[in-house]
Amino acid sequence: MSELMSQLHETVQYIQSQYKEVPLVGIVLGSGLGNFVSEIKVEKEIPYGEIPNFPVSTVKGHLGKLVFGELEGKKVVAMAGRFHFYEGYTPQQIAFPIRVMKLLGVQHLFLSNASGCVNTSFKVGDLMLINDHVSFFIANPLVGPNEEALGTRFPDMSEPYSKALIEKAKQIGAELNYDLKEGVYLATTGPTFETHAEYRMIKALGADVVGMSTVQEVIIARHCGMNVFAISVITDMGIRDTEDEITHEEVLAAAKAAEPKMSNIFKKIIASF
Ligand code: HPA
Repeated sequence: MSELMSQLHETVQYIQSQYKEVPLVGIVLGSGLGNFVSEIKVEKEIPYGEIPNFPVSTVKGHLGKLVFGELEGKKVVAMAGRFHFYEGYTPQQIAFPIRVMKLLGVQHLFLSNASGCVNTSFKVGDLMLINDHVSFFIANPLVGPNEEALGTRFPDMSEPYSKALIEKAKQIGAELNYDLKEGVYLATTGPTFETHAEYRMIKALGADVVGMSTVQEVIIARHCGMNVFAISVITDMGIRDTEDEITHEEVLAAAKAAEPKMSNIFKKIIASF
C-alpha cells in the first residue's frame, strides 16, 4: 500500500474509533460562511490537531475541527476551518481531508466560497451556483503519482459540478423566490485580490467570478467519484468604474449577509437526499 493510502487508513480508523456513523454529505464552508455549521445537530467534534496526519492550522485562532452530526435528518461532516493554498498548505494537504471524507463514506461534497465578480449583470450579495470552473492558475492537486485506489490517472472533468444538484438548487431557488445566478468560477492562488487588468482578463477568459479556494477540493472530490455542489457568494465587484479598494472586511460582511439564503439551499437539497 502507498504511504498516502496508509496515512488515509490510519486517519479514517482514528475518526471511526471516535464516531461510528457514516456521513452522507461533506461540507466545506467559505470565508464569512462558517456559521452554517451551527445548523448541525452536533454528535461529535474532533479538533484537527487530534486527528493523525491532518494538516494543522498554524494561524492563531484558526484551530479548526471536524463536526459530525445530523442536518435535516441526514448524517453530515463539516470542516469548521478550511485549508487555503495562500496560507502555505500544499495542494496535497488541502486534498487530504477531502479524501478522508470519501473514505468515511461521504457521497456528496457541498462547498461554499466568497468571490469577486467580473460579470457585470451580477451584484454583491448574489448567490451563484457554480456550474464550471477554470483551474489553470492554481496547482493541480493531482500532480504526482496517481493513487489508483482512489481514482484514475486522467480524470474526466466534463461535469465537475453535479447537473442534477444544480437543477435541484434551481427548483428550490424558484420556490423560495431567490434570484440565483449560475456561472463559472476561476481560481487563483491569492492572497492578493486582482488588479483591474487581471479582473478584465478573467472576464475575457469566460469566467463570471474569481476566488481563492474550492477548485483544488473539487478536483480531488471528482477524482475519487464524489458528487459536488458549490455556491459562490459574490462579495465584491472586480469589474467596476469606481476607484474603491477591496477589503477582507467587506468580503466577510457581504458573505455573512448572504449566508441565510445559502444555508437554506444547502439544507433543502440535503433534506431531499
Ligand atoms: N478575488 C479573489 N478572491 C476573492 C475575491 C476577489 O475579488 N472576493 C472574495 N474572494
